[in-house]
Amino acid sequence: MITTLTLPRLFDAHVHFRNDEMLQLVVPFTAKYASHAIVMPNTRPRAILTAEDVVWYNSEIERTLDQLRPRPNFKPLMTIEIRDNTTPEIVARAHKVGAVAGKVYPLGVTTNSNEGLRNFFSKESLETFEAMQFLGMPLLIHGELDLPRTLVTKREEVFLPTFLRLADRFPKLKMVLEHITTKAAVATIRHLGPNINATITAHHLCTTLNDVVGDGIRPHNMCMPIPKDFEDRDALISAVISGNPKFFLGSDTAPHPREKKECARGACGVFSAPILPELLAEIFEKANGLSYLEEFACDFGAEFYGLKPATEKITLIKEAWTVPEIYGNVVPFMAGEALQWKLL
Ligand code: NCD
Ligand code: ZN
Repeated sequence: MITTLTLPRLFDAHVHFRNDEMLQLVVPFTAKYASHAIVMPNTRPRAILTAEDVVWYNSEIERTLDQLRPRPNFKPLMTIEIRDNTTPEIVARAHKVGAVAGKVYPLGVTTNSNEGLRNFFSKESLETFEAMQFLGMPLLIHGELDLPRTLVTKREEVFLPTFLRLADRFPKLKMVLEHITTKAAVATIRHLGPNINATITAHHLCTTLNDVVGDGIRPHNMCMPIPKDFEDRDALISAVISGNPKFFLGSDTAPHPREKKECARGACGVFSAPILPELLAEIFEKANGLSYLEEFACDFGAEFYGLKPATEKITLIKEAWTVPEIYGNVVPFMAGEALQWKLL
């Protein structure tokens, strides 16, 4: 039986660090075990939209890292949000100051998407995507649409035709369909070219809709895209233990204060950062796929962003522990539950 697991520091291709006190609370978790993370731009009150925002937000994160002892060997990789009024100039300037990708939130599909993109195929959007294709700057997409008479469980599937149209229109644009949750999305990514990839979260590998609303309402399991059916989860697991570089880790760790989750209209987002390597080890072991974990969580994401996997290692040992009920004022994923692996 394997009782020790050594991995390079992880490459987490999708994190929410927020700002102010929340930033200070959550950054140390990811910085403890990741070499890089792609930092999402949907912050409030200041969203990350321009070069100036990127520089400001990056310095906020670096300042937080500087306060940690020892300073972790972790580098945040910045993004901007692509909206209807984003221009090729905005994109080029942000790219120049280090934004590695642009992120699209279709209007109204998730936390802080109230100013999200309305039209993927407007003249302005097409020019922006063209500029990104030219710069080799990946387009990260929250792949859901909030359409009339469409259940929240169907929002990912109804987005796929839009995604296919984009892939067809921009054959060289690097795209990532973020946090995929359906069998249909897995199949779509598999049959598109090597420039088209997807991130997968740890929580979607171990939850279904039942874990959100099947046994009481469990707000800390609620996220967008909403966890789906068993066969969808099976397809996600098959994808991550297939050794296919198109599928890589993007945890979508998305902290919210407890009172924003446990209320009449709770926020969407799962805070997985405090348990991420441990949870992944457990999921991959259970699926008889531990040998695929390193590629999925360390190599493929780094490769996509043109980086080498980290040389510094992390170690996990087989030792059961119970996930704390709360960190600061944020309830983590699997609070109060046992995990079998522990990060040293
Ligand atoms: C994320 C958040 O809280 O910012 N929420 C979520 O449910 N996943 C946004 C996102 O990635 O959709
Ligand atoms: Zn997210």
